[in-house]
Amino acid sequence: MTVLGIETSCDETAAAIVRRDPFGNGTLLSSIIRSQFKDHEAYGGVVPEIAARAHVQVVDKIVEAALNEAQLDFGDLDGVAATAGPGLIGGVLVGLVTAKAIALVHDIPLAAVNHLEGHALTVGLTEGLRPPYLLLLVSGGHTEFLKVGGAFQYEKLGGTIDDALGEAFDKVAKMLGLGFPGGPAVERTAASGDPYRFDLPRPLAGRTRPDFSFSGLKTAVRQVALTHAPVSRQVAADLCASFQKAAGDVVRDRLRAAMTIYEASGLARRLVVAGGVASNRALRTALLKECEASEYTFHAPPSGLCTDNAAMIAWAGANRIAAGLVDGLDVAARARWPISEVSVPVETVKELSAAE
Ligand code: KG4
Ligand code: ZN
Repeated sequence: MTVLGIETSCDETAAAIVRRDPFGNGTLLSSIIRSQFKDHEAYGGVVPEIAARAHVQVVDKIVEAALNEAQLDFGDLDGVAATAGPGLIGGVLVGLVTAKAIALVHDIPLAAVNHLEGHALTVGLTEGLRPPYLLLLVSGGHTEFLKVGGAFQYEKLGGTIDDALGEAFDKVAKMLGLGFPGGPAVERTAASGDPYRFDLPRPLAGRTRPDFSFSGLKTAVRQVALTHAPVSRQVAADLCASFQKAAGDVVRDRLRAAMTIYEASGLARRLVVAGGVASNRALRTALLKECEASEYTFHAPPSGLCTDNAAMIAWAGANRIAAGLVDGLDVAARARWPISEVSVPVETVKELSAAE
């Protein structure tokens, strides 16, 4: 089954094509990503209306480029998938309406994919890993632990009570004038810094519920920056390194809490981390260490498939269509859409991960 995926929920216009064999293995045939980074740079953040207009301008060309790279035509497609949320609604509409038009004209099934499910299932494409697993989703808008109990089974175990981790990275970058997007800039700056120079808080450490809070950590970074203003390159490097260390410690501590709950269900000890922040090496190392200590296997998509892309949307769509989970042309775009809402009752899923 060959499926085209379209992603337009934030500031990347992306299209990709995956092939899924009857055994549930995937191959990535093409992946095109156009970042709008330059369109938003001057504003220090993504401007929704600018994002939507930029998607409109390029989405057709990006789809065409994905087909060309895969050396395929619309007639070769067995399905089309697009992000239907959560995200910036103007952008989501652009990708979803494009996918609907392709489904209608070429008479192929449509999958309206939850963006978070795209992140959640990427390891199925990249390393053939199927649920069950414990999932840590860390992106610009979400930071949560999910029990992925089986195919299309998502149960939230805990999440952030204020900022998402990616948001905290972006704000730290902004207050230090490191540019946008912030996560990669903080990681680069931290590389030459001392992670032990500044003593920053580890919010919610030791709590039983696997929740997160990053606003206090962010405020502490701001205080240090103000105390040292104007911030020198070395202070910026040390502060970024100290922030990244604190974030890693927090996530590791919260992971222990999530593991305790997850283990009560007796499922295989596997951790998957996904979403843009999962490309951060310090964070990956912190998680890997905890996995080694707690006898979990550790899984993460390669860095380029952690940040937003359409391969994950095509792959999630292919899995949904293969399981008979097809959407009608009246399906709505959604700004908010918790991943738990796309869980499917076990008996209605034709192909169960374990049975495949
Ligand atoms: O998943 P994603 O591409 O988009 C959303 O769905 O939000 O995640 C974007 C977030 C941004 O906050 C960005 O700063 C962060 O992921 N990010 C990183 C890194 N690369 C991207 N954060 C820390 N370190 C990185 N290397
Ligand atoms: Zn994302």
